[in-house]
Amino acid sequence: MIHKPMVRNNICINAHPRGCEVETQRQIEYIAARAPRYHALSTKPKAVLVVGASTGYGLASRIAATFGFGVPTVAVSYEKAPSEKKTGTPGWYNNRAFDAASRKAGIASRSIDGDAFSREVKDLVIAAARELGLTFDLVIYSLASPVRLDPESGILYESAIKPIGDTYSGRSMNAFTRELGEASLPPATETEIASTVKVMGGEDWELWIDALAKAGVLAQGATTVAYSYIGPALSWPIYRDGTIGKAKAQLEETVPRLRSTFKELGLTAFVSINKALVTRSSAIIPVIPLYISTLFKVMKERGTHEDCTAQIDRLYRDRLYAGKTGGVPVDEEGRIRLDDLEMLQGVQADIEARMAHVTQDNLAKLTDVDGFKVDFLRAHGFEVPSVNYELDVAPNYDPLAAGS
Ligand SMILES: NC(=O)c1ccc[n+]([C@@H]2O[C@H](COP(=O)([O-])OP(=O)(O)OC[C@H]3O[C@@H](n4cnc5c(N)ncnc54)[C@H](O)[C@@H]3O)[C@@H](O)[C@H]2O)c1
Repeated sequence: MIHKPMVRNNICINAHPRGCEVETQRQIEYIAARAPRYHALSTKPKAVLVVGASTGYGLASRIAATFGFGVPTVAVSYEKAPSEKKTGTPGWYNNRAFDAASRKAGIASRSIDGDAFSREVKDLVIAAARELGLTFDLVIYSLASPVRLDPESGILYESAIKPIGDTYSGRSMNAFTRELGEASLPPATETEIASTVKVMGGEDWELWIDALAKAGVLAQGATTVAYSYIGPALSWPIYRDGTIGKAKAQLEETVPRLRSTFKELGLTAFVSINKALVTRSSAIIPVIPLYISTLFKVMKERGTHEDCTAQIDRLYRDRLYAGKTGGVPVDEEGRIRLDDLEMLQGVQADIEARMAHVTQDNLAKLTDVDGFKVDFLRAHGFEVPSVNYELDVAPNYDPLAAGS
């Protein structure tokens, strides 16, 4: 079957099996080329758990653990397997490509596909750790989910990306039609705010750490990191001051609680503020595609642009395991800042000026609208260099069976 991207309302509903495989291999090669720098570090993790590991920041975190540090990983994601007629979700192919490469490198890996919010999946991870003889000393929490089924109450919570208090109106950009427009979003209800906090806040992160500690598969002196975003003031009505920001604020409040609850275990917890990048859902949030396109243009011009893999490479080598005197470098609030280059005053001033003057005619000149589109398609296995998209590929092509 020949696969072409099927984009409906800014959502890509299929994936390219080979494209996902090759893109995962590219990220692996990027990290593997830097492995000597990882081996030169004075400290390193021995066993890593990544929750939300099949795409974006989680996949990069897993790749850097195995192909940088050379350590085993257990990973959780929620992906759809392909059928004979229909492709699976990108993360399914990424997981299989990761497991194939990990196997080839002789480093243990276990990919668990299921609902991370459930007790069953936590038990599966604990069982995998025991079977592989691992106690995790690094736990990365990189979930991005629209819903959460609370295992205790059975209630299904749905997150909403909405402003709080007032309707938000702002510029929008369709990366596929290259059209600029106006979008508005009504304020969230109290229920939507509370539900978003339930889904994207820190409650489940805490449940994971608690389950691992009680099962004895969390190492003494372990580190855990959850990812977040702050961004510039222009995005705050929809992000930091909106429903998702409330959830992320609660994620940050979880840090001191985790540190004190697991003091005897010597647990260190961090929230890491990462750079804005194109993911499967970022095309549908107002202002974000226009902001990210402009950000990419400015950072590429300055030579400071990074993708997920480069960001996590920096997280591990320059932050968590840098062995700096005074410990892991953090801001006044105790957060790791990987968005430092994005938030530089000069970068933000340039972005603001461009966004104030952008029109339909100068869109391609002032912003990296094409870069946004390419990254979005690449997250689904399309537009990956060196992949021949005219070749027949079975939807249920399996990179692990193919032994890539
Ligand atoms: N993309 C950005 O611009 C950006 C910037 C800074 C911080 N972050 C944060 O990084 C984290 C990861 O975001 P991303 O952009 O890499 O997202 P992503 O969509 O690429 O990855 C999300 C992962 O979560 C998994 N997942 C979703 N629901 C699940 C469930 N119920 N059970 C198990 N796994 C599940 C998916 O399978 C996938 O592996 C999020 O917390 C996000 O807020 C993202």
